[in-house]
Amino acid sequence: MSDDSSASSLQNPAQPLVLALETSCDESAAALMRGTNLLAAEVFSQVAVHGEYGGVVPEVASRSHLRALRPVLDSVLSIAGLQLRDLDAVAATSGPGLATSLMLGLSLAKGIAVALGKPFIPVNHIEGHLLSPFLSEPEGPRAAIGLVVSGGHTLLVRIRSTGDYQLLGKTLDDAAGEAFDKVGKLLGLPYPGGPHVSQTAEQGSGTRFELPRSMLHSGDFDFSFSGLKTAVRYLLPKHNPVPVADVCASFQEAVVDVLVAKTMRALEVERVDTLAVSGGVSCNLRLRERFQTACKSAGVRLLLAPKDLCTDNAAMIAYVAALKLCAGFDSQLNAEIEPNLRTADWLR
Ligand code: KG4
Ligand code: ZN
Repeated sequence: MSDDSSASSLQNPAQPLVLALETSCDESAAALMRGTNLLAAEVFSQVAVHGEYGGVVPEVASRSHLRALRPVLDSVLSIAGLQLRDLDAVAATSGPGLATSLMLGLSLAKGIAVALGKPFIPVNHIEGHLLSPFLSEPEGPRAAIGLVVSGGHTLLVRIRSTGDYQLLGKTLDDAAGEAFDKVGKLLGLPYPGGPHVSQTAEQGSGTRFELPRSMLHSGDFDFSFSGLKTAVRYLLPKHNPVPVADVCASFQEAVVDVLVAKTMRALEVERVDTLAVSGGVSCNLRLRERFQTACKSAGVRLLLAPKDLCTDNAAMIAYVAALKLCAGFDSQLNAEIEPNLRTADWLR
């Protein structure tokens, strides 16, 4: 398919109406945004379906997207009182993610764009997370440190402006969310482990077990969480019954200690006074509390997205698309899915 330079001009260039679809993994999501104002956002979660298997099954996910996409799309249009013909542009997540899931959202979005003769905008899922805390900021993205903590990524990024990002550090093995999920599994908690570990931790002691804080003093901004997960694995057979709440709380404390210490150090070194924390793990209450305290005493402005914008959603995809449109982005109907999009491909 060639680039569609004939895509008609925007109906209202100052405040274009963008539809975004997000299907990178197991959430089917749609959102409508006028300018950078969110009009409607819906997520159909497949957690119950994949819970039975203890993890996401790609083929099950893509079949489920096929069923859920039309209802979530109809739902956002009906909430906003709009129709497809009102759209000025259509966006979708192009990667990273599961190929067969990405394909569903991207194909539907391209199809709508072609039928309407409107621009199509591919969006990087991780850039969506990274910028999501700025959604409620009237001036939009600005100089900040961004911490993305999701199921697949743990990144510390120097944000200069929209599209201008520098990688400061990343995990060398498991992502923070992945560590939460693996520990949840070890403890026999339901999938995905993160929210269950966090909820169970509320009843436990975070100081009962001394668990490793890997790379806390490594002098760089990289992370490592696989040793921590292994330490939990070795700890469990030593206890009968396993003090699940104390294990959850002690594990969570170790993750949070490292994330907070390294991020606060990055703010200091880079001399920036704004922190934007995003991704599914930023739902974690203890992490939010600890960042609130640390930022208050360091005089740092903390931007945390509301919880429904921390986990996968299409509002963050619509937001990046809206910012790209503002910057004069052209339609990219020839964009392909990028399941393995690497950090080095978009972060300098
Ligand atoms: O950003 P996200 O929805 O999807 C990815 O792009 O990966 O993040 C999902 C991750 C999962 O690992 C999930 O367990 C974790 O975020 N998560 C949490 C919490 N809520 C979701 N981890 C810790 N505490 C939570 N409350
Ligand atoms: Zn995500």
